[in-house]
Amino acid sequence: MINQDTTISVKNLEVSYGMIKAIKGISFEFKSGEITALIGSNGAGKTTTLKALSGLLPHSGEVLFNHQNISALDAPARLKYKMALCPEGRGIFPNLTVTENLMLGAYLEKSKAKVNELIEQQFTMFSRLAERRKQVAGTLSGGEQQMLAIARALMSEPKMLMLDEPSLGLAPVIIEQIFQKFEDLRQRGLGLLIVEQNAHLALEVSAKAYVLETGAITLNGKGSDLLSDPRVVEAYLT
Ligand SMILES: Nc1ncnc2c1ncn2[C@@H]1O[C@H](COP(=O)(O)OP(=O)(O)O)[C@@H](O)[C@H]1O
Ligand SMILES: [Mg+2]
Repeated sequence: MINQDTTISVKNLEVSYGMIKAIKGISFEFKSGEITALIGSNGAGKTTTLKALSGLLPHSGEVLFNHQNISALDAPARLKYKMALCPEGRGIFPNLTVTENLMLGAYLEKSKAKVNELIEQQFTMFSRLAERRKQVAGTLSGGEQQMLAIARALMSEPKMLMLDEPSLGLAPVIIEQIFQKFEDLRQRGLGLLIVEQNAHLALEVSAKAYVLETGAITLNGKGSDLLSDPRVVEAYLT
């Protein structure tokens, strides 16, 4: 249980690829104990935003962890601030076993006993992974690979977990199981930022949501309000 509240505030974030500005000065925030959604179509800038937040892309603007400006920190340093990214396409190592993939998620942790304890925590949460602990990750189903990617992100004991299109390519019944885990994590006090093209699902589970269109936030509000907003319905839900 995490009892200290955390807010990540993003202010005027700008990210460019060469001459092209992919993110054009967006501001949003997400908090511990809440699910926040960032929805947008393909190419809107969702992945770029998460990479910048994780310290994987240079950006201007501010990323504030509570009130501390962490904009100048690189990705490993941001992990120490308990922010973890579960990347698009999952980024697991197909030739390594489930357990080995999990170990890599705790590469900053020096204590072997602690690493083992963290691995067992993931196996408690994801029993399907426990049954497959010695299996190479490339032979897992899509849903199991997504669970492994989430579990690996949790190995750094994040307070704030950012997920890039966790539902992509998965069957509805598996998506439901995975989103149930997100709700469990939220109840334990984690803050989740879920980035999705699957707007319906993301808006249903989120307290707060933002709509990203070609690098700018065009709408924001309660997830439930956006679900019935005619502009959202027309552009994302029909
Ligand atoms: N490495 C890159 N180099 C140049 N342009 C990129 C690169 N990655 C993404 N882009 C561009 O930035 C925009 C946003 O991409 P991205 O963040 O991947 O969108 P999303 O995740 O919402 O689909 C797109 O126009 C994309 O073509
Ligand atoms: Mg993307």
